[in-house]
Amino acid sequence: MKVTIVGAGNVGATCADVISYRGIASEVVLLDIKEGFAEGKAMDIMQCAPNTGFNTRVSGITGDYSKTANSNVVVITSGIPRKPGMTREELIGINAGIVKGVAENVLKHSPDAIIVVVSNPMDTMTYLTLKATGLPKHRVIGMGGALDSSRFKYFLSKALDKPIGDIDGMVIGGHGDTTMIPLTRLASYNGMPVSNFLQQDVLDKVAADTMVGGATLTGLLGTSAWYAPGASVAYLVDSILNDQKKMIACSVFLEGEYGQNDICMGVPCIIGANGLEEIVDIHLSDDEKAKFAKSADAVRNMNADLKE
Ligand code: NAI
Repeated sequence: MKVTIVGAGNVGATCADVISYRGIASEVVLLDIKEGFAEGKAMDIMQCAPNTGFNTRVSGITGDYSKTANSNVVVITSGIPRKPGMTREELIGINAGIVKGVAENVLKHSPDAIIVVVSNPMDTMTYLTLKATGLPKHRVIGMGGALDSSRFKYFLSKALDKPIGDIDGMVIGGHGDTTMIPLTRLASYNGMPVSNFLQQDVLDKVAADTMVGGATLTGLLGTSAWYAPGASVAYLVDSILNDQKKMIACSVFLEGEYGQNDICMGVPCIIGANGLEEIVDIHLSDDEKAKFAKSADAVRNMNADLKE
C-alpha cells in the first residue's frame, strides 16, 4: 500500500515517521516544494530503519508528482501558517490555492486515491477539496477530530490520574479553539461515565483545556504542534489502508446529518477501505445540538472567505 504525503514539514514528516515505524504502509512518498527538503526528511527517516527495524520504503521528491502515482491515500499537509499582519481571508486565499493545486496534481497520477486533508483551516480546506475535485464524499476526509479527541483523552487522564489507555472520549464540531465540542457527557473511564469520578467544574476545565490545546502548544513551542498531529493522521491512514473500520471523529461533507447541509465538519465516522464508510448518528443532548449548530455557523462563515 502506498501513501503520499504532500508537505514534508513538521506534521507531514512526523506522519511519515509514524507510518513507517508502525508498518502501516509499504511505501511512503514525501513531496514538498522546498528543493531537497522532502528528500532530506525521507533519507533521515530511512536511516532509522536499521536500528528500529521497519521495512517501509520512504522516499522524498521536490514537486514531481509522477513519483506519487498509484497512491492509495494522499495526505495534504502543505500550507503556510498565518503571519503577523495577515488577515484570515488572506491566509485562506493562500492555503486554498495551495490545497486546490495539490489535490488536482495528485489526482492526475492517483485517480482512485482517498484524500486526507490536514492543512488549516482544516474544515474549510476539506470543503474546498471536495468541491474543487468533485470527488465523492467518501474519498475526502479532514483530520482534526482524531487529534482533538486525543488531546481530550490526555486531559481526562490527567484529571482522573488514570492511564490514558483506559479513557475514551470524542470531540466533534469544527476544528477550532471555539468551534470544537468535547463530548464530556459521553466520555468514559473503563466503560463508566467520567462524571462518576469528576465534578462538573473539573469536567468544564478539561473541556476548556482541550479546546485551547493547540494554542497552548503553539505558545510553548513557538510554532504549532507536530507529534500528536502526525500520529493522529497516521492513525486515520491506518484505519483506511487496513480497513479497520474504526470510529474516528473526522471532518466530512454533511447532507442533513446532525442538522447540517453543504458543510464539512467533525462527526463520528466509520473509517475503512472506502474512506468514509458511514457517518454515525449519536444522540446529542439539546445543549450539544445547540453547540453544534453554533459551530456550523462559524465554519460556514469561514467557508464564505473562499473565493471562486
Ligand atoms: P510546516 O510549515 O512545517 O510544513 C508545511 C510544508 O508545506 C512546508 O515544508 C512547505 O514547504 C510545504 N508546502 C507549501 N506549499 C506547498 C506546495 N504547494 N506543495 C508542496 N508542499 C508545499 O507546517 P506544519 O506544522 O507541518 O503544518 C502543516 C499544515 O497542517 C498547516 O496548515 C497547519 O496549520 C496544519 N495543521 C493541522 C492540524 C490538524 O489537526 N488538522 C494539526 C497541526 C497542523
